[in-house]
Amino acid sequence: MEKYTTNNAINALLNFLQEQSARQVVALTDSNLDALYPHYLDALAQHFSVEKIVVPAGERHKSIEQATAIWQQLLEKQYDKNLVIVNFGGGMICDLGGFVAATYKRGVRCVNFPTTLLAMIDAAIGGKTAVNLDHIKNCVGLIRQPDFVVPADLTLLRTLPESELLSGFGELVKYALIASRPLFDELLHIDNLSAECICPEWISTCVEYKNKIVAIDPDDVKERHVLNFGHTYGHAIESMCAAQGEPIPHGIAVAIGILFECQKAAQEGNFPMEDFLLVEKLIRRHFEIPAYSEALERQLSPYFLQDKKNKNGEVAFVQLSEIGKTRL
Ligand code: GLY
Repeated sequence: MEKYTTNNAINALLNFLQEQSARQVVALTDSNLDALYPHYLDALAQHFSVEKIVVPAGERHKSIEQATAIWQQLLEKQYDKNLVIVNFGGGMICDLGGFVAATYKRGVRCVNFPTTLLAMIDAAIGGKTAVNLDHIKNCVGLIRQPDFVVPADLTLLRTLPESELLSGFGELVKYALIASRPLFDELLHIDNLSAECICPEWISTCVEYKNKIVAIDPDDVKERHVLNFGHTYGHAIESMCAAQGEPIPHGIAVAIGILFECQKAAQEGNFPMEDFLLVEKLIRRHFEIPAYSEALERQLSPYFLQDKKNKNGEVAFVQLSEIGKTRL
């Protein structure tokens, strides 16, 4: 087993909570996951006082109203600074729960327990917390590192809906493109994506790379922007679809964004055409890609202006010099 995966996630969490002398634990999860795994965290209750808070599933509930509802529940139960919040879920739960933990009583301890591929390789790591505002993704939030990230239990991926697995795969492709040509070559060999395809080594490649970048630039002012490759278009597409009432999972939007951004870069001579053709082959094999048009670009433009990488009103992109290497 790799360092970032485990076949006993509960034990890893118990060890951490015991080391921390935790007493009050709140487990935050969403309604989908709670229906699938109602007793997954029961073993904790033998050692700590544990309360479960279940929020409705779905990105639209990553809202300030939902955060307020959780703050109120914590206050009613008189939780103090000794509280540990365990975010048991995917990116939405890690972002929302991380935001609540970072702000309740000016900050309580926070554990991310990722259950989706996307959270295992990205959202649970690096301390980005946020809620959405007016369909603008992650508009309000702060960066605060979790106190612990539970190593990934890949068996949890077996119950992931296909669209969520695909969403994680979009982020996996991103990591391959920014950090690892060998990982990209392995991903090229997948014909039919399933939970069983996901190797522990891939999780480690992504987590190690992300940890390295976050250590260099925790506040996301320069080097960390590479983790946003594909996200200029990706976030704009995700926000536009949400505003149109047809939300799509984050990583799927990112995969579309990667393709559009690589195509632009290749056409402008900033990315080798043979590399673009490989990226296109990989992404089109797994994702449905909308036709690119001037009209689509115009529809997306108000959302580009909200991108957090922008400076002085200029829209910023992360580019690759070749597969596996970024150009800042
Ligand atoms: N998901 C990109 C980052 O954490 O910076």
